[in-house]
Amino acid sequence: MCGIIGCAGRGSDTLSVLTHGLNQLEYRGYDSAGVALGGHRVGVRKRAGEIEALEQALQTDAPTGSLGIGHTRWSTHGPPNQDNAHPHTDSTGSVAVVHNGIIENHQSLRDELKAAGHEFRSDTDTEVIPRLIEEYRVEEHTAAEAFRAAIDRLDGSYAIAAVIEGVSAVFAVRNDSPLVLGIDTEATYLGSDVPAFLGYTDQVVYLDDGEFAELRGSAWEVTDGSGHPVEKSVESIDWDIEQTTKGGYDHYMLKEIYEQPTALRQGMSGRIDELAGRVTLDSLADLNRPDRVQFVACGTSYHAALYGARVFHELGIPAQSLLASEYATSPPPADDSLVISITQSGETADTLSALRNAQSRGAQTMTITNVVGSTAARECDHALHTRAGPEIGVAATKTFSSQLTTLNLLAEYLTEDTGGRDPRERLLALRDLPGDLLSIIDDSRAADIAERFRDAAGYFFIGRGYNHPVALEGALKFKEISYEYAEGLAAGELKHGTLALVTEDTPVFAVVTGDGETADKTVGNVKEIQARGAPVVAVTDRQTDIARYADAVMEVPETHPRVAPLLANVQLQLVSYHVANALGRSIDKPRNLAKSVTVE
Ligand code: F6R
Repeated sequence: MCGIIGCAGRGSDTLSVLTHGLNQLEYRGYDSAGVALGGHRVGVRKRAGEIEALEQALQTDAPTGSLGIGHTRWSTHGPPNQDNAHPHTDSTGSVAVVHNGIIENHQSLRDELKAAGHEFRSDTDTEVIPRLIEEYRVEEHTAAEAFRAAIDRLDGSYAIAAVIEGVSAVFAVRNDSPLVLGIDTEATYLGSDVPAFLGYTDQVVYLDDGEFAELRGSAWEVTDGSGHPVEKSVESIDWDIEQTTKGGYDHYMLKEIYEQPTALRQGMSGRIDELAGRVTLDSLADLNRPDRVQFVACGTSYHAALYGARVFHELGIPAQSLLASEYATSPPPADDSLVISITQSGETADTLSALRNAQSRGAQTMTITNVVGSTAARECDHALHTRAGPEIGVAATKTFSSQLTTLNLLAEYLTEDTGGRDPRERLLALRDLPGDLLSIIDDSRAADIAERFRDAAGYFFIGRGYNHPVALEGALKFKEISYEYAEGLAAGELKHGTLALVTEDTPVFAVVTGDGETADKTVGNVKEIQARGAPVVAVTDRQTDIARYADAVMEVPETHPRVAPLLANVQLQLVSYHVANALGRSIDKPRNLAKSVTVE
Protein backbone atom coordinates (compact mmCIF):
# COMPACT_ATOMS: atom_id res chain seq x y z
CA MET A 1 0.00 0.00 0.00
CA CYS A 2 1.98 2.96 -1.38
CA GLY A 3 5.63 2.51 -2.21
CA ILE A 4 8.65 4.53 -1.12
CA ILE A 5 12.07 4.63 -2.77
CA GLY A 6 15.00 6.78 -1.75
CA CYS A 7 18.69 6.93 -2.56
CA ALA A 8 21.82 8.88 -1.74
CA GLY A 9 25.17 8.54 -3.46
CA ARG A 10 24.12 7.86 -7.06
CA GLY A 11 24.92 11.35 -8.35
CA SER A 12 23.51 12.00 -11.82
CA ASP A 13 21.86 8.53 -11.90
CA THR A 14 19.57 9.48 -9.01
CA LEU A 15 16.48 10.13 -11.11
CA SER A 16 16.76 6.88 -13.03
CA VAL A 17 17.29 4.96 -9.76
CA LEU A 18 14.11 6.53 -8.39
CA THR A 19 11.94 5.85 -11.45
CA HIS A 20 13.27 2.30 -11.68
CA GLY A 21 12.40 1.83 -8.00
CA LEU A 22 8.91 3.22 -8.55
CA ASN A 23 8.30 0.76 -11.37
CA GLN A 24 9.47 -2.06 -9.13
CA LEU A 25 7.07 -0.86 -6.43
CA GLU A 26 4.06 -0.14 -8.60
CA TYR A 27 2.28 -3.20 -7.22
CA ARG A 28 2.01 -1.36 -3.90
CA GLY A 29 -0.15 1.41 -5.36
CA TYR A 30 -0.73 3.04 -8.69
CA ASP A 31 -3.02 6.04 -8.33
CA SER A 32 -0.29 8.65 -8.74
CA ALA A 33 3.48 8.93 -8.48
CA GLY A 34 6.17 11.51 -7.83
CA VAL A 35 9.83 12.19 -7.11
CA ALA A 36 11.83 14.85 -5.29
CA LEU A 37 15.52 15.39 -5.91
CA GLY A 38 17.62 17.13 -3.34
CA GLY A 39 21.10 17.92 -2.20
CA HIS A 40 21.44 21.55 -3.12
CA ARG A 41 17.92 22.62 -4.18
CA VAL A 42 14.74 20.55 -3.92
CA GLY A 43 12.92 19.76 -7.19
CA VAL A 44 9.58 17.94 -7.17
CA ARG A 45 7.68 16.38 -10.08
CA LYS A 46 4.48 14.38 -9.69
CA ARG A 47 1.56 13.17 -11.77
CA ALA A 48 -1.82 11.51 -11.27
CA GLY A 49 -2.19 8.06 -12.83
CA GLU A 50 0.34 5.33 -13.41
CA ILE A 51 4.11 5.83 -13.27
CA GLU A 52 4.25 6.10 -17.04
CA ALA A 53 2.55 9.50 -16.80
CA LEU A 54 5.29 10.71 -14.47
CA GLU A 55 8.01 9.29 -16.69
CA GLN A 56 6.59 11.11 -19.70
CA ALA A 57 6.57 14.40 -17.80
CA LEU A 58 10.19 13.82 -16.69
CA GLN A 59 11.32 13.45 -20.30
CA THR A 60 10.81 17.15 -20.94
CA ASP A 61 11.19 18.53 -17.45
CA ALA A 62 13.47 16.60 -15.11
CA PRO A 63 14.73 17.89 -11.77
CA THR A 64 18.39 17.38 -10.88
CA GLY A 65 20.04 16.50 -7.60
CA SER A 66 22.49 14.10 -6.00
CA LEU A 67 19.94 12.28 -3.86
CA GLY A 68 16.20 11.85 -3.80
CA ILE A 69 12.97 10.20 -2.80
CA GLY A 70 10.00 8.83 -4.75
CA HIS A 71 6.52 7.56 -4.07
CA THR A 72 3.76 5.60 -5.77
CA ARG A 73 0.39 6.06 -4.12
CA TRP A 74 -2.70 4.06 -3.17
CA SER A 75 -4.93 6.86 -1.99
CA THR A 76 -6.39 6.95 1.52
CA HIS A 77 -6.87 10.71 2.06
CA GLY A 78 -8.26 12.58 -0.90
CA PRO A 79 -8.79 11.53 -4.53
CA PRO A 80 -5.86 10.35 -6.67
CA ASN A 81 -5.07 13.67 -8.40
CA GLN A 82 -1.82 15.56 -8.89
CA ASP A 83 -2.24 17.78 -5.83
CA ASN A 84 -2.66 14.76 -3.59
CA ALA A 85 0.27 12.87 -5.13
CA HIS A 86 3.48 12.66 -3.10
CA PRO A 87 6.03 14.21 -2.49
CA HIS A 88 4.38 17.00 -0.53
CA THR A 89 6.26 20.20 0.19
CA ASP A 90 6.34 23.02 2.67
CA SER A 91 5.19 26.52 1.71
CA THR A 92 8.51 27.46 0.08
CA GLY A 93 9.21 24.18 -1.70
CA SER A 94 12.41 23.58 0.23
CA VAL A 95 11.23 20.48 2.10
CA ALA A 96 9.75 17.44 0.30
CA VAL A 97 8.21 14.45 2.05
CA VAL A 98 6.83 11.06 1.03
CA HIS A 99 4.78 9.01 3.45
CA ASN A 100 3.10 5.61 3.75
CA GLY A 101 0.50 5.03 6.46
CA ILE A 102 -1.90 7.36 8.22
CA ILE A 103 -1.34 10.42 10.43
CA GLU A 104 -4.22 10.13 12.87
CA ASN A 105 -3.89 13.63 14.38
CA HIS A 106 -3.49 15.35 11.01
CA GLN A 107 -6.65 17.44 11.40
CA SER A 108 -5.57 19.13 14.63
CA LEU A 109 -2.06 19.68 13.19
CA ARG A 110 -3.59 21.14 10.04
CA ASP A 111 -5.73 23.53 12.11
CA GLU A 112 -2.70 24.62 14.10
CA LEU A 113 -0.60 25.14 10.95
CA LYS A 114 -3.42 27.01 9.23
CA ALA A 115 -3.66 29.32 12.22
CA ALA A 116 0.08 29.94 11.77
CA GLY A 117 -0.59 31.03 8.17
CA HIS A 118 -0.07 27.84 6.14
CA GLU A 119 -2.23 27.39 3.04
CA PHE A 120 -2.58 23.72 2.24
CA ARG A 121 -2.45 22.51 -1.35
CA SER A 122 -3.72 18.95 -0.89
CA ASP A 123 -6.36 16.95 0.99
CA THR A 124 -3.77 14.56 2.37
CA ASP A 125 -2.76 13.87 5.94
CA THR A 126 0.87 13.87 4.72
CA GLU A 127 1.11 17.57 3.93
CA VAL A 128 1.28 18.50 7.61
CA ILE A 129 4.73 16.86 7.79
CA PRO A 130 6.77 19.16 5.48
CA ARG A 131 5.00 22.14 7.00
CA LEU A 132 5.90 21.04 10.53
CA ILE A 133 9.50 20.58 9.39
CA GLU A 134 9.37 24.10 7.94
CA GLU A 135 8.15 25.46 11.28
CA TYR A 136 10.81 23.64 13.28
CA ARG A 137 13.62 24.67 10.93
CA VAL A 138 13.15 28.18 12.25
CA GLU A 139 13.45 27.02 15.84
CA GLU A 140 15.88 24.10 15.67
CA HIS A 141 19.59 24.14 14.90
CA THR A 142 19.85 21.51 12.20
CA ALA A 143 17.65 19.94 9.51
CA ALA A 144 17.95 16.59 11.30
CA GLU A 145 16.62 18.14 14.51
CA ALA A 146 13.76 19.81 12.67
CA PHE A 147 12.84 16.49 11.06
CA ARG A 148 12.89 14.74 14.43
CA ALA A 149 10.85 17.51 16.10
CA ALA A 150 8.20 17.27 13.37
CA ILE A 151 7.97 13.49 13.66
CA ASP A 152 7.55 13.83 17.43
CA ARG A 153 4.24 15.58 16.78
CA LEU A 154 2.73 12.75 14.74
CA ASP A 155 0.32 10.07 15.93
CA GLY A 156 -0.37 7.15 13.65
CA SER A 157 1.45 4.72 11.41
CA TYR A 158 4.12 5.91 9.07
CA ALA A 159 7.15 5.29 6.95
CA ILE A 160 8.44 8.72 6.00
CA ALA A 161 11.32 9.97 3.87
CA ALA A 162 12.30 13.59 3.35
CA VAL A 163 14.80 15.77 1.52
CA ILE A 164 15.58 19.27 2.72
CA GLU A 165 17.16 22.10 0.71
CA GLY A 166 20.89 22.57 1.25
CA VAL A 167 21.34 19.25 3.09
CA SER A 168 23.06 16.27 1.47
CA ALA A 169 21.02 13.61 3.25
CA VAL A 170 17.80 11.65 2.94
CA PHE A 171 15.99 11.56 6.28
CA ALA A 172 13.70 8.67 7.15
CA VAL A 173 11.71 7.23 10.03
CA ARG A 174 9.49 4.25 10.57
CA ASN A 175 6.55 3.53 12.85
CA ASP A 176 4.19 0.65 12.03
CA SER A 177 4.88 0.78 8.30
CA PRO A 178 7.78 -1.04 6.66
CA LEU A 179 11.03 0.67 5.68
CA VAL A 180 14.26 -1.03 4.77
CA LEU A 181 17.71 0.31 3.85
CA GLY A 182 19.77 -1.09 0.97
CA ILE A 183 23.50 -0.85 1.60
CA ASP A 184 26.14 -0.63 -1.12
CA THR A 185 29.75 0.52 -1.17
CA GLU A 186 29.07 3.83 -2.94
CA ALA A 187 25.41 4.48 -2.22
CA THR A 188 22.59 3.82 0.22
CA TYR A 189 18.97 3.11 -0.71
CA LEU A 190 15.67 3.23 1.06
CA GLY A 191 12.55 1.25 0.21
CA SER A 192 9.17 0.37 1.60
CA ASP A 193 9.96 -3.03 0.15
CA VAL A 194 13.17 -4.73 -0.98
CA PRO A 195 12.32 -4.92 -4.74
CA ALA A 196 12.62 -1.09 -4.81
CA PHE A 197 16.42 -1.36 -4.88
CA LEU A 198 17.06 -5.05 -5.47
CA GLY A 199 18.75 -4.28 -8.79
CA TYR A 200 21.55 -2.44 -6.96
CA THR A 201 22.22 -4.34 -3.75
CA ASP A 202 21.17 -7.42 -1.82
CA GLN A 203 22.49 -6.09 1.52
CA VAL A 204 19.71 -4.76 3.72
CA VAL A 205 19.05 -3.23 7.11
CA TYR A 206 15.51 -3.46 8.48
CA LEU A 207 14.40 -0.42 10.46
CA ASP A 208 12.38 -1.06 13.61
CA ASP A 209 9.51 1.06 14.86
CA GLY A 210 10.66 4.39 16.24
CA GLU A 211 14.00 4.32 14.44
CA PHE A 212 15.34 7.20 12.33
CA ALA A 213 17.79 6.84 9.45
CA GLU A 214 20.03 9.32 7.69
CA LEU A 215 21.47 8.37 4.30
CA ARG A 216 24.52 10.25 3.06
CA GLY A 217 25.97 8.39 0.05
CA SER A 218 27.86 5.37 1.29
CA ALA A 219 27.52 6.62 4.89
CA TRP A 220 24.36 5.90 6.83
CA GLU A 221 23.26 6.01 10.42
CA VAL A 222 20.29 4.67 12.37
CA THR A 223 19.26 6.35 15.61
CA ASP A 224 16.54 5.76 18.17
CA GLY A 225 13.82 8.18 19.23
CA SER A 226 16.22 10.02 21.54
CA GLY A 227 18.89 10.36 18.87
CA HIS A 228 21.23 7.65 20.18
CA PRO A 229 22.94 5.53 17.51
CA VAL A 230 21.49 2.03 17.11
CA GLU A 231 23.71 -0.85 16.06
CA LYS A 232 21.99 -2.56 13.12
CA SER A 233 22.97 -5.77 11.42
CA VAL A 234 23.31 -5.88 7.64
CA GLU A 235 21.55 -8.92 6.22
CA SER A 236 21.72 -10.58 2.79
CA ILE A 237 18.57 -11.14 0.75
CA ASP A 238 18.39 -14.29 -1.36
CA TRP A 239 15.94 -12.87 -3.93
CA ASP A 240 17.39 -11.75 -7.22
CA ILE A 241 16.27 -9.07 -9.64
CA GLU A 242 15.32 -11.64 -12.31
CA GLN A 243 12.51 -12.80 -10.05
CA THR A 244 11.01 -9.32 -10.06
CA THR A 245 10.70 -8.98 -13.84
CA LYS A 246 7.96 -10.39 -16.08
CA GLY A 247 10.48 -12.65 -17.81
CA GLY A 248 8.63 -12.74 -21.14
CA TYR A 249 5.14 -13.31 -19.69
CA ASP A 250 2.32 -10.86 -20.43
CA HIS A 251 1.56 -10.49 -16.75
CA TYR A 252 3.27 -11.09 -13.43
CA MET A 253 0.24 -13.08 -12.35
CA LEU A 254 0.67 -15.60 -15.17
CA LYS A 255 4.40 -15.83 -14.50
CA GLU A 256 3.73 -16.41 -10.82
CA ILE A 257 1.12 -19.11 -11.57
CA TYR A 258 3.70 -20.82 -13.75
CA GLU A 259 6.37 -20.44 -11.07
CA GLN A 260 4.39 -22.51 -8.59
CA PRO A 261 6.18 -25.81 -9.13
CA THR A 262 9.50 -24.08 -8.45
CA ALA A 263 8.12 -22.07 -5.55
CA LEU A 264 6.82 -25.20 -3.84
CA ARG A 265 10.03 -27.08 -4.46
CA GLN A 266 11.93 -24.23 -2.80
CA GLY A 267 9.48 -24.21 0.09
CA MET A 268 9.93 -27.93 0.74
CA SER A 269 13.63 -28.17 -0.03
CA GLY A 270 15.56 -29.68 2.88
CA ARG A 271 12.43 -29.85 5.00
CA ILE A 272 11.00 -33.28 4.06
CA ASP A 273 12.41 -36.75 4.48
CA GLU A 274 9.53 -38.67 2.92
CA LEU A 275 11.09 -42.08 3.42
CA ALA A 276 11.69 -41.58 7.13
CA GLY A 277 8.32 -39.81 7.33
CA ARG A 278 9.84 -36.73 8.95
CA VAL A 279 9.64 -32.98 8.51
CA THR A 280 12.44 -30.70 9.73
CA LEU A 281 11.78 -27.02 10.33
CA ASP A 282 15.00 -25.56 11.67
CA SER A 283 13.60 -22.16 12.62
CA LEU A 284 11.15 -23.86 15.01
CA ALA A 285 13.65 -25.94 16.97
CA ASP A 286 12.63 -24.38 20.30
CA LEU A 287 8.85 -24.52 19.73
CA ASN A 288 6.90 -27.04 21.79
CA ARG A 289 3.79 -28.73 20.46
CA PRO A 290 0.90 -26.38 21.27
CA ASP A 291 -2.34 -27.68 22.83
CA ARG A 292 -4.38 -25.67 20.36
CA VAL A 293 -3.89 -23.19 17.56
CA GLN A 294 -5.62 -20.04 16.39
CA PHE A 295 -4.87 -18.87 12.85
CA VAL A 296 -5.35 -15.19 12.02
CA ALA A 297 -5.19 -13.80 8.50
CA CYS A 298 -6.96 -11.73 5.82
CA GLY A 299 -8.17 -12.36 2.28
CA THR A 300 -6.39 -15.13 0.45
CA SER A 301 -4.25 -15.85 3.49
CA TYR A 302 -7.45 -16.34 5.48
CA HIS A 303 -8.45 -19.03 2.99
CA ALA A 304 -5.10 -20.67 3.73
CA ALA A 305 -5.98 -20.40 7.42
CA LEU A 306 -9.31 -22.19 6.84
CA TYR A 307 -7.43 -24.97 5.10
CA GLY A 308 -4.73 -25.04 7.78
CA ALA A 309 -7.24 -25.37 10.61
CA ARG A 310 -8.67 -28.49 8.97
CA VAL A 311 -5.22 -30.02 8.52
CA PHE A 312 -4.29 -29.34 12.13
CA HIS A 313 -7.57 -30.69 13.42
CA GLU A 314 -7.20 -33.87 11.42
CA LEU A 315 -3.70 -34.41 12.79
CA GLY A 316 -4.87 -33.93 16.36
CA ILE A 317 -4.32 -30.25 17.20
CA PRO A 318 -7.59 -28.36 17.70
CA ALA A 319 -7.45 -25.25 15.54
CA GLN A 320 -9.59 -22.25 14.66
CA SER A 321 -9.25 -19.79 11.79
CA LEU A 322 -10.18 -16.18 12.51
CA LEU A 323 -10.33 -13.10 10.34
CA ALA A 324 -7.59 -10.80 11.60
CA SER A 325 -9.82 -7.74 11.32
CA GLU A 326 -12.33 -9.38 13.70
CA TYR A 327 -9.78 -10.75 16.12
CA ALA A 328 -9.95 -8.01 18.74
CA THR A 329 -13.63 -8.75 19.30
CA SER A 330 -13.30 -12.55 19.17
CA PRO A 331 -13.11 -14.75 22.28
CA PRO A 332 -9.54 -14.69 23.66
CA PRO A 333 -7.13 -17.53 22.89
CA ALA A 334 -7.29 -20.34 25.44
CA ASP A 335 -4.24 -20.93 27.64
CA ASP A 336 -1.44 -22.75 25.83
CA SER A 337 -2.69 -21.58 22.45
CA LEU A 338 -0.26 -20.80 19.71
CA VAL A 339 -1.56 -17.91 17.60
CA ILE A 340 -0.28 -18.23 14.03
CA SER A 341 -0.62 -15.38 11.58
CA ILE A 342 -0.55 -16.24 7.90
CA THR A 343 0.53 -13.28 5.78
CA GLN A 344 2.48 -13.35 2.55
CA SER A 345 3.72 -9.78 2.98
CA GLY A 346 4.13 -9.83 6.74
CA GLU A 347 2.92 -6.22 6.72
CA THR A 348 -0.89 -6.41 6.63
CA ALA A 349 -2.11 -3.96 9.28
CA ASP A 350 -5.13 -6.05 10.36
CA THR A 351 -2.95 -9.11 10.79
CA LEU A 352 -0.25 -7.25 12.73
CA SER A 353 -2.90 -5.78 14.97
CA ALA A 354 -4.36 -9.26 15.65
CA LEU A 355 -0.91 -10.59 16.46
CA ARG A 356 -0.21 -7.76 18.87
CA ASN A 357 -3.58 -8.32 20.45
CA ALA A 358 -2.74 -12.01 20.94
CA GLN A 359 0.63 -11.09 22.42
CA SER A 360 -1.00 -8.65 24.82
CA ARG A 361 -3.25 -11.50 25.98
CA GLY A 362 -0.17 -13.59 26.73
CA ALA A 363 -0.31 -15.97 23.77
CA GLN A 364 2.74 -17.42 22.10
CA THR A 365 2.83 -16.27 18.46
CA MET A 366 4.15 -17.48 15.15
CA THR A 367 3.95 -16.13 11.62
CA ILE A 368 3.96 -17.94 8.31
CA THR A 369 5.19 -15.39 5.79
CA ASN A 370 6.95 -15.05 2.48
CA VAL A 371 8.93 -11.97 3.42
CA VAL A 372 12.05 -12.43 5.52
CA GLY A 373 12.52 -9.45 7.82
CA SER A 374 8.88 -8.36 7.55
CA THR A 375 7.23 -6.82 10.58
CA ALA A 376 5.21 -9.96 11.39
CA ALA A 377 8.30 -12.14 11.11
CA ARG A 378 10.24 -9.89 13.45
CA GLU A 379 7.54 -9.30 16.02
CA CYS A 380 6.50 -12.94 16.46
CA ASP A 381 8.07 -15.48 18.77
CA HIS A 382 8.60 -17.84 15.81
CA ALA A 383 8.73 -17.26 12.06
CA LEU A 384 8.30 -19.85 9.34
CA HIS A 385 9.08 -18.71 5.80
CA THR A 386 7.24 -20.00 2.76
CA ARG A 387 10.17 -19.29 0.38
CA ALA A 388 8.01 -18.67 -2.69
CA GLY A 389 10.23 -15.83 -3.96
CA PRO A 390 8.91 -12.31 -4.62
CA GLU A 391 5.29 -12.02 -5.72
CA ILE A 392 4.57 -8.83 -7.66
CA GLY A 393 1.06 -9.43 -9.08
CA VAL A 394 -1.49 -7.99 -6.67
CA ALA A 395 -3.51 -11.22 -6.77
CA ALA A 396 -1.80 -13.77 -4.56
CA THR A 397 -1.15 -17.04 -6.41
CA LYS A 398 2.14 -18.79 -5.72
CA THR A 399 2.25 -17.48 -2.17
CA PHE A 400 -1.16 -19.07 -1.46
CA SER A 401 0.01 -22.46 -2.74
CA SER A 402 3.17 -22.07 -0.66
CA GLN A 403 1.13 -21.25 2.41
CA LEU A 404 -0.93 -24.44 2.01
CA THR A 405 2.20 -26.51 1.53
CA THR A 406 3.91 -24.92 4.53
CA LEU A 407 0.83 -25.55 6.68
CA ASN A 408 1.04 -29.24 5.82
CA LEU A 409 4.71 -29.29 6.79
CA LEU A 410 4.05 -27.46 10.03
CA ALA A 411 1.20 -29.78 11.03
CA GLU A 412 3.33 -32.85 10.32
CA TYR A 413 6.24 -31.34 12.24
CA LEU A 414 4.19 -30.50 15.31
CA THR A 415 2.49 -33.89 15.46
CA GLU A 416 5.53 -36.00 14.69
CA ASP A 417 5.76 -37.62 18.11
CA THR A 418 2.09 -38.34 18.58
CA GLY A 419 2.46 -41.92 17.22
CA GLY A 420 -0.15 -44.12 15.61
CA ARG A 421 0.02 -42.52 12.20
CA ASP A 422 2.24 -42.77 9.19
CA PRO A 423 2.79 -39.52 7.32
CA ARG A 424 4.76 -41.08 4.48
CA GLU A 425 1.88 -41.23 2.01
CA ARG A 426 1.11 -37.55 2.64
CA LEU A 427 4.73 -36.51 2.37
CA LEU A 428 5.14 -38.45 -0.87
CA ALA A 429 2.09 -36.62 -2.24
CA LEU A 430 3.69 -33.31 -1.26
CA ARG A 431 6.94 -34.35 -2.90
CA ASP A 432 5.04 -35.10 -6.12
CA LEU A 433 3.06 -31.87 -5.95
CA PRO A 434 5.41 -29.70 -8.09
CA GLY A 435 5.30 -32.30 -10.89
CA ASP A 436 1.51 -32.56 -10.67
CA LEU A 437 1.21 -28.77 -10.83
CA LEU A 438 3.40 -28.71 -13.89
CA SER A 439 1.13 -31.19 -15.67
CA ILE A 440 -1.90 -29.01 -14.87
CA ILE A 441 -0.19 -25.87 -16.11
CA ASP A 442 0.84 -27.64 -19.32
CA ASP A 443 -2.53 -29.24 -20.06
CA SER A 444 -5.09 -26.86 -18.58
CA ARG A 445 -8.20 -26.12 -20.64
CA ALA A 446 -8.67 -22.87 -18.70
CA ALA A 447 -8.28 -20.61 -21.75
CA ASP A 448 -11.08 -22.47 -23.65
CA ILE A 449 -13.34 -22.51 -20.62
CA ALA A 450 -12.73 -18.81 -20.05
CA GLU A 451 -13.64 -18.05 -23.66
CA ARG A 452 -16.83 -20.09 -23.34
CA PHE A 453 -18.05 -18.48 -20.11
CA ARG A 454 -16.50 -15.00 -20.15
CA ASP A 455 -19.79 -13.17 -20.74
CA ALA A 456 -21.85 -14.78 -17.99
CA ALA A 457 -23.93 -12.73 -15.54
CA GLY A 458 -22.16 -14.08 -12.47
CA TYR A 459 -20.10 -17.00 -11.25
CA PHE A 460 -20.36 -19.39 -8.31
CA PHE A 461 -17.67 -21.58 -6.83
CA ILE A 462 -18.54 -24.47 -4.54
CA GLY A 463 -16.64 -27.11 -2.60
CA ARG A 464 -16.83 -29.11 0.62
CA GLY A 465 -14.27 -29.96 3.27
CA TYR A 466 -10.76 -29.14 2.08
CA ASN A 467 -12.28 -27.84 -1.15
CA HIS A 468 -14.36 -25.21 0.65
CA PRO A 469 -11.40 -22.79 1.08
CA VAL A 470 -10.50 -23.49 -2.55
CA ALA A 471 -14.01 -22.44 -3.65
CA LEU A 472 -13.73 -19.24 -1.59
CA GLU A 473 -10.30 -18.52 -3.02
CA GLY A 474 -11.48 -19.30 -6.57
CA ALA A 475 -14.23 -16.68 -6.24
CA LEU A 476 -11.97 -14.08 -4.61
CA LYS A 477 -9.37 -14.39 -7.35
CA PHE A 478 -12.07 -14.26 -10.01
CA LYS A 479 -13.73 -11.06 -8.82
CA GLU A 480 -10.44 -9.40 -7.92
CA ILE A 481 -9.03 -9.46 -11.43
CA SER A 482 -12.08 -9.90 -13.71
CA TYR A 483 -14.31 -7.36 -11.86
CA GLU A 484 -17.20 -9.78 -12.47
CA TYR A 485 -19.57 -10.86 -9.72
CA ALA A 486 -18.38 -14.13 -8.14
CA GLU A 487 -19.27 -15.91 -4.94
CA GLY A 488 -17.64 -18.86 -3.23
CA LEU A 489 -19.69 -21.14 -0.98
CA ALA A 490 -19.59 -24.37 0.95
CA ALA A 491 -21.39 -26.65 -1.50
CA GLY A 492 -24.09 -27.54 1.02
CA GLU A 493 -24.96 -23.88 1.60
CA LEU A 494 -26.10 -23.13 -1.93
CA LYS A 495 -29.57 -24.53 -1.36
CA HIS A 496 -30.00 -22.40 1.77
CA GLY A 497 -30.46 -19.20 -0.20
CA THR A 498 -28.00 -18.48 -2.97
CA LEU A 499 -29.57 -21.08 -5.26
CA ALA A 500 -32.19 -18.38 -5.96
CA LEU A 501 -29.53 -16.59 -8.03
CA VAL A 502 -28.49 -19.63 -10.04
CA THR A 503 -29.69 -19.50 -13.66
CA GLU A 504 -28.51 -20.67 -17.08
CA ASP A 505 -26.44 -17.48 -17.13
CA THR A 506 -24.42 -18.21 -13.99
CA PRO A 507 -21.80 -20.93 -14.40
CA VAL A 508 -20.98 -22.89 -11.26
CA PHE A 509 -17.45 -24.17 -10.73
CA ALA A 510 -17.72 -27.28 -8.56
CA VAL A 511 -14.52 -28.53 -6.94
CA VAL A 512 -14.84 -32.26 -6.26
CA THR A 513 -11.76 -34.34 -5.49
CA GLY A 514 -11.43 -37.76 -3.90
CA ASP A 515 -14.31 -40.13 -3.30
CA GLY A 516 -16.51 -41.00 -0.36
CA GLU A 517 -19.39 -39.27 1.35
CA THR A 518 -18.10 -35.69 1.19
CA ALA A 519 -17.45 -35.84 -2.54
CA ASP A 520 -20.75 -37.64 -3.21
CA LYS A 521 -22.67 -34.94 -1.41
CA THR A 522 -21.14 -32.28 -3.65
CA VAL A 523 -22.10 -34.36 -6.68
CA GLY A 524 -25.65 -34.27 -5.27
CA ASN A 525 -25.48 -30.47 -5.08
CA VAL A 526 -24.26 -30.36 -8.67
CA LYS A 527 -27.33 -32.30 -9.77
CA GLU A 528 -29.51 -29.68 -8.05
CA ILE A 529 -27.65 -26.95 -9.92
CA GLN A 530 -27.97 -28.73 -13.22
CA ALA A 531 -31.69 -29.07 -12.67
CA ARG A 532 -31.87 -25.25 -12.53
CA GLY A 533 -30.18 -25.06 -15.93
CA ALA A 534 -26.88 -23.56 -14.79
CA PRO A 535 -23.74 -24.66 -16.62
CA VAL A 536 -21.42 -26.66 -14.36
CA VAL A 537 -17.64 -26.74 -14.67
CA ALA A 538 -16.28 -29.62 -12.62
CA VAL A 539 -12.75 -29.34 -11.27
CA THR A 540 -12.10 -32.94 -10.44
CA ASP A 541 -9.79 -35.92 -10.29
CA ARG A 542 -12.69 -38.04 -11.67
CA GLN A 543 -12.91 -40.24 -8.59
CA THR A 544 -16.66 -39.58 -8.59
CA ASP A 545 -19.03 -39.54 -11.54
CA ILE A 546 -19.38 -35.74 -11.42
CA ALA A 547 -18.21 -35.44 -15.03
CA ARG A 548 -21.59 -36.95 -16.08
CA TYR A 549 -23.37 -33.87 -14.71
CA ALA A 550 -20.88 -31.27 -15.88
CA ASP A 551 -20.83 -29.14 -19.02
CA ALA A 552 -17.05 -28.90 -18.87
CA VAL A 553 -14.33 -30.64 -16.87
CA MET A 554 -11.00 -29.34 -15.63
CA GLU A 555 -9.00 -32.33 -14.57
CA VAL A 556 -6.47 -32.69 -11.76
CA PRO A 557 -4.25 -35.72 -11.11
CA GLU A 558 -5.27 -38.15 -8.39
CA THR A 559 -3.31 -37.62 -5.20
CA HIS A 560 -3.73 -37.50 -1.42
CA PRO A 561 -7.10 -35.88 -0.48
CA ARG A 562 -5.33 -33.13 1.43
CA VAL A 563 -3.07 -32.26 -1.51
CA ALA A 564 -5.70 -32.41 -4.27
CA PRO A 565 -7.21 -28.99 -3.34
CA LEU A 566 -3.88 -27.32 -4.15
CA LEU A 567 -4.12 -28.73 -7.66
CA ALA A 568 -7.76 -27.72 -8.10
CA ASN A 569 -6.89 -24.20 -6.97
CA VAL A 570 -4.37 -23.77 -9.78
CA GLN A 571 -7.03 -24.64 -12.37
CA LEU A 572 -9.22 -21.90 -10.88
CA GLN A 573 -6.32 -19.41 -10.87
CA LEU A 574 -5.89 -20.07 -14.58
CA VAL A 575 -9.62 -19.61 -15.31
CA SER A 576 -9.62 -16.26 -13.47
CA TYR A 577 -6.55 -15.16 -15.35
CA HIS A 578 -7.92 -16.08 -18.77
CA VAL A 579 -11.36 -14.53 -18.17
CA ALA A 580 -9.72 -11.29 -16.94
CA ASN A 581 -7.37 -11.31 -19.90
CA ALA A 582 -10.20 -11.91 -22.37
CA LEU A 583 -12.11 -9.01 -20.80
CA GLY A 584 -9.02 -6.77 -21.04
CA ARG A 585 -8.78 -6.10 -17.31
CA SER A 586 -5.75 -4.69 -15.53
CA ILE A 587 -4.60 -8.04 -14.18
CA ASP A 588 -1.48 -7.19 -12.21
CA LYS A 589 -2.89 -3.97 -10.80
CA PRO A 590 -6.62 -4.44 -10.29
CA ARG A 591 -8.62 -1.30 -9.68
CA ASN A 592 -8.90 -0.10 -6.07
CA LEU A 593 -6.55 -2.78 -4.76
CA ALA A 594 -2.95 -2.84 -3.57
CA LYS A 595 -0.60 -5.67 -2.74
CA SER A 596 0.15 -4.92 0.86
CA VAL A 597 -2.65 -3.41 2.94
CA THR A 598 -0.92 -1.43 5.68
CA VAL A 599 -4.00 0.36 7.03
CA GLU A 600 -6.75 -1.21 9.18
C1 F6R B 1 -5.90 -11.51 -2.80
C2 F6R B 1 -4.89 -11.01 -1.89
C3 F6R B 1 -5.33 -10.44 -0.58
C4 F6R B 1 -4.30 -10.77 0.50
C5 F6R B 1 -4.65 -10.05 1.81
C6 F6R B 1 -3.68 -10.41 2.91
O1 F6R B 1 -5.33 -12.02 -3.97
O2 F6R B 1 -3.73 -11.03 -2.19
O3 F6R B 1 -6.59 -10.89 -0.22
O4 F6R B 1 -4.27 -12.14 0.71
O5 F6R B 1 -4.62 -8.66 1.60
O6 F6R B 1 -2.37 -10.13 2.54
P1 F6R B 1 -1.14 -10.78 3.28
O7 F6R B 1 -1.13 -12.22 2.96
O8 F6R B 1 0.05 -10.06 2.74
O9 F6R B 1 -1.34 -10.55 4.74
